[in-house]
Amino acid sequence: MQTVQDAPALRAAIRGWRSQGQTVGLVPTMGNLHAGHHSLLKLARARADRVVASVFVNPTQFGPNEDFERYPRTLAQDQAGLAEHGCDLLFAPEVATMYPYGAAHGVSIHVPGITDTLEGAHRPGHFDGVATVVCKLFNLVQPDLAVFGQKDFQQLKVIERMVRDLALPLKVLGAPTLRADDGLALSSRNQYLSGAERAQAPLVRQTLQQMRELLDKGHARRIIEEAAHSKLERAGFVPDYAVIRRAEDLAEPADGEREGLVALIAARLGTTRLIDNLPFD
Ligand code: PAJ
Repeated sequence: MQTVQDAPALRAAIRGWRSQGQTVGLVPTMGNLHAGHHSLLKLARARADRVVASVFVNPTQFGPNEDFERYPRTLAQDQAGLAEHGCDLLFAPEVATMYPYGAAHGVSIHVPGITDTLEGAHRPGHFDGVATVVCKLFNLVQPDLAVFGQKDFQQLKVIERMVRDLALPLKVLGAPTLRADDGLALSSRNQYLSGAERAQAPLVRQTLQQMRELLDKGHARRIIEEAAHSKLERAGFVPDYAVIRRAEDLAEPADGEREGLVALIAARLGTTRLIDNLPFD
């Protein structure tokens, strides 16, 4: 596996494959890769001839008080894992390559509507940063397809809308959430958890499952959401939200609406913010 840092080297490598008629799949990441990321590579590998991964801790998607500085940067380890999981090319750019006018002064992409709620409401500007960097990665790599995890459900929806609205010529694939044996969704941020917090963390997934069971039993959505919220609080979490939404656009479902829903939770445990979701299908 080759690692490239700048656009000309990236384009040269991809040009070679293109000239042979090969298709290209992209897996964008911020590094510190785990089995969840590797599962995205596997999907890309199954659907494209060549797989490019990117590792870039994107400054524009972090808020001023978030973990940009302390976000784990483990490039050597990531390279080994990517090579082992069938990645052909790693793109690991510097900030100046992605933001030639500086991170604060470049073009920014805003996907309206769907970014007003949930993560967008709790992390102002976050999805502008995500959409902008992902659009730039698409322009640099020009992939036939790109794979994103359902773990970041709203992010996947934001990217799908951007691709459709800007008529970007690629297919977006969503990959299922990979979990630890106790149900905790794998995340680079899990390593911030203390031993005691790690033992508590699977409650997020359990609460999502309980939300689905209660909805199946016919309980009212608002009551379920309140119960989930207080269950998390009682266990020492500080929930940002615990809600049931329409999977399609993340809008609030009408009373009695039961099809195409998803439960979503974001909650802080100590200094770590956990997010997870469960599509009801
Ligand atoms: P990052 O958090 O590194 O995640 C990269 C990709 O891995 C995302 O598509 C995410 O949804 C997926 N992923 C993370 N944990 C997963 C799990 N347990 N199971 C399956 N997939 C999982 O998301 C980002 O980076 C950034 O916002 C990015 C899209 C790269 C833009 O900067």
